[in-house]
Amino acid sequence: MAKVDLSNRGNFGSKFGIIAAAAGSAIGLGNIWRFPYVLGESGGGAFLLVYLFFIFSIGIPVMLSEFIIGRSAQMNPFGAFKKLAPKQPWFIVGIMGIFAAFMILAFYGAVGGWTLEYLYKSVSNQFSNKTPEQLNVLFNNFREGSINTVIWQVIFMALTFFIVIAGIEKGIEKYTKILMPVLLFILIIISVRSITLPGAKEGLVFLFKPDFSKLNAKVIFAALGQAFFSLSIGMGALITYGSYINKKDNLTSSAVIVSLSDTFIAVLAGVAIFPAVFAFGIEPQAGEGLVFQALPNIFQQMPGGYFISILFFILLILAALTSSISLLEVVVATFVEELKMSRKKASIIAASLITLLGAICALSWSTFKWLTIDHIDKATGEKISYNFFMMLDFLSLKIILPLGGLLIVVFLGWFFGKKKIREELSNQGLLKVKYIKLLMFLVKFVAPIAIAIVFLHEIGLVKL
Ligand code: TRP
Repeated sequence: MAKVDLSNRGNFGSKFGIIAAAAGSAIGLGNIWRFPYVLGESGGGAFLLVYLFFIFSIGIPVMLSEFIIGRSAQMNPFGAFKKLAPKQPWFIVGIMGIFAAFMILAFYGAVGGWTLEYLYKSVSNQFSNKTPEQLNVLFNNFREGSINTVIWQVIFMALTFFIVIAGIEKGIEKYTKILMPVLLFILIIISVRSITLPGAKEGLVFLFKPDFSKLNAKVIFAALGQAFFSLSIGMGALITYGSYINKKDNLTSSAVIVSLSDTFIAVLAGVAIFPAVFAFGIEPQAGEGLVFQALPNIFQQMPGGYFISILFFILLILAALTSSISLLEVVVATFVEELKMSRKKASIIAASLITLLGAICALSWSTFKWLTIDHIDKATGEKISYNFFMMLDFLSLKIILPLGGLLIVVFLGWFFGKKKIREELSNQGLLKVKYIKLLMFLVKFVAPIAIAIVFLHEIGLVKL
C-alpha cells in the first residue's frame, strides 16, 4: 500500500469549512438542472415524496458514513478501505468511485458547458422578445447544431482543473463560502416572480400534490438515483472530503445541515421552475433542456431580468464548479496517494481523459447522435433510446452510486464497529451521541434493504 505523507494533506480550517465544502459539492447542477427535469418526467409530487423519503432514510446515513470513513482513514476512498479493512475486497468501492467520477464528470462538464453558453446568451441579450416556442428552438439548435457545446465543455473542465490544482485550502473552500447564500437569495427572487405569474398555481400543484397513480418502479428508481447524485454520495467524494475534515468538527450536524440545505435548494428550484413551466405552456417532460427553456421566460417577465439572468447563470456556473471539483478531487487524491503521482500530473491526466469522454457527451445530440442503446424499461415496457450522455448518466447514477452507497452503509454498519463509530461521532468522547442506536438501525437495516429492494427490482430479480 502506498505510504502517505499526512503532513502534506490539506485540511479545512474551520467547521464552516467542511459544511461549506460539502454543501458546495452537493449543491450544483443536480439541484437546479437535474432535479426539476427528472421530477417533470416522473410525474411531479409523488416523485418529490419518494425523493424526500430517500434523503432521510438513505441519504443522510450514507453521507454520515462517508464522513466517518474518510475522517477516520484520512485517505482517498480506495486507500481508506484498504487501510480500514486490509486484505478484504472493500477497496472495490474506491475503484467503482473512480469509474463513477469519470462518467459523472464527463456529462456534468457538458451541462456545465450549457450553462456557460447560457451566460453568454444572457449577456448578449438573446432571450429578449422570444416566445416560449422560440426559446425552446434556441436551446435545441444550440445543443444539436454546434461545436460550441464542446468548446464550452472544454472551458468548464479547464476551470475545474485550475481550481483543483490549486489544492484544498485555496481551491475548494474559498469558492463556496459566499456563493451559497447569494444563490439562495436569487433563487428566492426568481421563485417569487414565478409563482406570481398568471396560471402559476397549476405548477405548484404539480410539484407538491402527489398523484399516486403516477408512482411506479421507474419513478422510485429515478428518485433514488437523483438523491444519490444530488447529495454527492455513493462514490467516495465525501470520503475524500471527509478525509480533510478537522478532528474537532461535528460530523453528524454537518451531514444533516448539508443534506437539508441541498434538499431545500432543489425544492426551491422546483418552485422557481414549475409555475413558469405551466404558465408558459412548456412540456414538464421536456427532459434535459427543461430549465434552459423555462428560466429565460421568467427573466423576461422580471424588471431587471437582463441583469438577473446574468447573475443567475454566473452563480449557477460557480455552484457547478464547486461540485465538479469534488468529482475531480476523488480521482486526483487517489492518483496522488495510490499511484504516487504529483498533484499536477494527476490533475492533468484525470482532467484530460474526462474532458475527452465529456466531449462525446457534449456531442451526443449532434455528431454522436448515432451512438445509442435501446433500453426497455422493466417497469413500463416502454422502449427508450439512450444516447451516450444518457448512458453515462444511467450507468453512474442508477447503478454505480446506489451500489456504492449500499456497500458503504453495509461496511459501516456491519464491519466498521460500533465502538469506532461512537469514537468518530463523539470526537473521542467530547460530544454526546444519543442517536447512535437510530443511526445503527439505519445503516445496518433500513438503508441497505431499501437500496437493495429498489435495485433488485429494477434489474428484474425481484417483483414488487
Ligand atoms: N451533487 C452535485 C450536484 O448536485 C454533483 C456531484 C458532485 C456529485 N460530486 C458528486 C454527484 C459525487 C455524485 C457523486 O450537482
